Amino acid sequence: MNDKTHLPSYQEVIRGAHRRHLPRLSKRRRRVAGIALGLLSFIAYAQWKQLPSSTTVHPISSDITIHGLSVKQLEDDLATCHALQKKPEDPKGLGRDRNSRYIDGHAPTLIKNATVWIGEPVPGTSPEDARKGKGYQWITADVYLESGLIRRVESSIAPSSVDPKTIIFNAHGRPLTVGIIDMHSHAGVDSLPELEGNDDTNEMSSNITPYVRSIDGLQPGDHQIQVIKSGGVTTSLVLPGSGNNIGGEAYVIKHAVGKADGRNETSATDMLADPDRNWRYMKMACGENAKRVYGRVGESGPVSRMGESWEFRHAFERAAKLVRDQDDWCNTATAKGLQAVKSYLPQELRWESLGALLRGQVHLNTHCYTIPDLEAFVDHTNEFKFKIRAFHHAHQTFLVPEILKRAYGGDPPASAIFADNMWYKAEANVASEFAGKILWDNGLTPIYVSDNPVLNAQHVIYEAAKGYKYGLPYHAALAAVTTAPAERLGFGQRLGKIKPGFDADVVVWDSDPLSLGAAPVQVWIDGTAQFEEPVELDKPPVTLITPDDSLAKLPNEPTQMDQVIFTGITKLLVDGGELGIDTTNSAGINRVVLTRGKITCIGICRSEVETALRDHTPVVELKNGHLSGSFTAFGSKIGLNAIDAEDDTDNGPSSGTFTRGEDGLALDTQKLNGSYTYGVTKAISAPKHTGGSNHHGTSVGFLTGAKTSLDKNAVFASDVAVHYTLDLTSKRGSTPSISAAVGALRQKLLEAAASNEKIKDGYSEAAFLKKVVQGSLPLVITVQNADVIASILQVKKTVEHATGTALRLVIYGGAESWLLAEELASAKVGVVLAPLFSFRSTWDQRRALTGAPLTNGTAIDKLLDAGVLTAIGLEEDWIVRDLGLLAGIVLNNGGGRVDEKGALGLVSGNVYKLLGLKEPGVKDGHFIISEGSPLTIGSRIKAVGGGLGTVTVF
Ligand SMILES: *[C@@H]1O[C@H](CO)[C@@H](O)[C@H](O)[C@H]1NC(C)=O
Ligand SMILES: *[C@@H]1O[C@H](CO)[C@@H](O)[C@H](O)[C@H]1NC(C)=O
Ligand SMILES: *[C@@H]1O[C@H](CO)[C@@H](O)[C@H](O)[C@H]1NC(C)=O
Ligand SMILES: *[C@@H]1O[C@H](CO)[C@@H](O)[C@H](O)[C@H]1NC(C)=O
Repeated sequence: MNDKTHLPSYQEVIRGAHRRHLPRLSKRRRRVAGIALGLLSFIAYAQWKQLPSSTTVHPISSDITIHGLSVKQLEDDLATCHALQKKPEDPKGLGRDRNSRYIDGHAPTLIKNATVWIGEPVPGTSPEDARKGKGYQWITADVYLESGLIRRVESSIAPSSVDPKTIIFNAHGRPLTVGIIDMHSHAGVDSLPELEGNDDTNEMSSNITPYVRSIDGLQPGDHQIQVIKSGGVTTSLVLPGSGNNIGGEAYVIKHAVGKADGRNETSATDMLADPDRNWRYMKMACGENAKRVYGRVGESGPVSRMGESWEFRHAFERAAKLVRDQDDWCNTATAKGLQAVKSYLPQELRWESLGALLRGQVHLNTHCYTIPDLEAFVDHTNEFKFKIRAFHHAHQTFLVPEILKRAYGGDPPASAIFADNMWYKAEANVASEFAGKILWDNGLTPIYVSDNPVLNAQHVIYEAAKGYKYGLPYHAALAAVTTAPAERLGFGQRLGKIKPGFDADVVVWDSDPLSLGAAPVQVWIDGTAQFEEPVELDKPPVTLITPDDSLAKLPNEPTQMDQVIFTGITKLLVDGGELGIDTTNSAGINRVVLTRGKITCIGICRSEVETALRDHTPVVELKNGHLSGSFTAFGSKIGLNAIDAEDDTDNGPSSGTFTRGEDGLALDTQKLNGSYTYGVTKAISAPKHTGGSNHHGTSVGFLTGAKTSLDKNAVFASDVAVHYTLDLTSKRGSTPSISAAVGALRQKLLEAAASNEKIKDGYSEAAFLKKVVQGSLPLVITVQNADVIASILQVKKTVEHATGTALRLVIYGGAESWLLAEELASAKVGVVLAPLFSFRSTWDQRRALTGAPLTNGTAIDKLLDAGVLTAIGLEEDWIVRDLGLLAGIVLNNGGGRVDEKGALGLVSGNVYKLLGLKEPGVKDGHFIISEGSPLTIGSRIKAVGGGLGTVTVF
């Protein structure tokens, strides 16, 4: 199971889902018990791969030995001994004349005029220099693909020198990389949109299930496999979920499926990246999940991390015994002959795969977040002598490099992480966006992963881009989704580099792959182009990123300043009107002077600077300084929650009551600190309905930098809007159906319209609804599905007919709103997209547009084209750091629909326009000073003003 979407108690949405799953769980338990005996008598080795047919068995005359055992069976057992003792090696790349995945008949391809990232430094680069990034470069080259392999990478390959049937693809100088590798995915086992019938992510029948295999639940028809590929991801490690301590076997697949890939039929086996199955893979997980899923006091463990360690050690003990018994048998049979053995080879399917792990045949990937989890697991590796390839999630590995280096086998595990997704549960709360850089600086290996569908794996390259933003060197960020996972998966000679002998998995990008919004223009797997008519976005010519080493310096601890001067300002992303000061003479501007947290001068500012210098005002010199307005987080739980899944840190659900956000405000949290640090100085949050980002009650506008709600100006707007939810979670309690929920909304509004009663409590639902029907307070409905949006538009009409007054309606969520873009525009209904880029994760989002090369644009493009006022919301709170980056993606991929200020408006001014609210602006001390545009990946925020009378300088 992916970590967040299904596991109980991560967050409340999920808790609901878990309750739903419980009856299923117990049914499954009964079913599994019934067939367990049958399974145990099965021959273990047959399930894995075909054994070598050659054996060195001694010929024996009789069919039965003196101990009454079948000679034929003993001979098979002895053959099994050879397989058991096999030591896998990484499969060779060079020297193959074809890739064994190649389908005959696919023509060779010559990619002309590409700008190629090889994936390794030029020959002769020392390992020390290579680690620093020296010798890595983009080169101009042609690439020839044939028989599923990269054959030639040369500065110029003449078409006359290759097979005449060759397809020529002109890259026109665009960047070419190897296919991206996602080392943590649940694609195919957790098919999208999520439906109970499709969920095969965790085998919940027992906490220790090394015997289950993700391939047995892998659905090749999962549309998400295609969506992921459209992001340039050609290879994924499909892991069982993290509900169990030992989750089962995992498989490395390529995203080339069935008939579209030239195969006769659709099969998961055909997707295996290594059809010869040299290595096996396994998933384990420690920490919160297993104890929460399986711990039942007095009935079953584990209930604590201590219990989890025992579960692991007990399982390893069982597997070690099996291995020892087998080795004893094999040694006796080999040394003394088959007549000497008194039994068949000991085999037990339940422990077979774990035995293979102890034999060094399995690449282990373990989900562990915290120091105690990591330390305990490293202890298990040494106690039972097995290696671990990567810790996943691994949020705290950056704190304990030495613990990782103590892992068995002298080969420290990599850390497979998200760039900045955190805070969602206690073990994800101690985390840093700089983890990748810190791991790298300690000689360890960061790898970025999606945990699809926790993140949409289509955009795993964006995680790497953020890794670069947060200080990982450019080459290491690219390696973190290419060469590093290739090596960790045992594919170091086949995947991850553009070199002869490697598999021909190739992506040509429309921009630098680490720039915001980078999308493939074509993807090849095993040498075959994957998209027949890929949509290519209208973008300016490619400018490659010049790696900026200064990003590798961690930001300084924040300092509060009353007065400060910034020099080196090159661009204003706000205009004079917003500033309330004259900037007409600020051409060639270079200075910004701040006094008591407000901007007092922009330009040469001679006299201001003189006065300031006399007062010893600090001067901060910037490189390519930008001044812009600050951002607003609308619709998150920020200010009402500190750790998503921890009830004690949360305002609590408000589904049964109608409450005011202001009454629950809880400030001074990590989430708020993170918001402020990344320029989000204002937030508008409403109480949640059940969990996730659904709402019920009135929202409050507040300053993220405030310490309590009584700080001056801390609450800038008390009851901003009335929020209701009509997504899948609305089917509960008194409204068990969508029709009941829509009907209840209509009834409330019509009653408010008809009522003349004097309302005693001015803070009651009735009082706020009265304002809604009078058109003086906005109504915000959290909803994703187009059909429900259609019903809401009907309700709006009905109510307006009754009152004669226009409702101010806003759609929050809106994954499918693009289907009704024209209708929304003519009804003057705005949309806050949350998520900005839906990927059909749930049924009510199943018609979302996932973007190029599969679809021509996404929801926001369609809404902007129709003239719908649009803003960007947050599906989850961690996204707050990324608001500027998301706006940057819209800027880059919008084909000119928005300019820089328009993009910034999506995360600031538009929210206020939608809500009919005055925005606390630059004039009020809300601004961001950054090096580089905050809409670019290479920018860094240097100072933030949050309307509190001081400036925070980093
Ligand atoms: C490669 O493409 C670039 C960009 O379109 C172009 O300027 C250049 O002339 C091309 N080079 C060749 C050899 O065709
Ligand atoms: C498809 O099936 C045909 C007929 O059985 C067989 O000859 C061919 O090799 C198969 N092709 C692939 C790619 O499996
Ligand atoms: C994508 O849509 C835009 C208009 O929305 C259109 O101009 C463009 O031609 C389309 N591109 C493709 C490849 O269909
Ligand atoms: C906010 O976070 C930053 C960086 O994560 C840290 O340096 C700072 O001390 C934090 N401030 C508070 C008040 O927690």
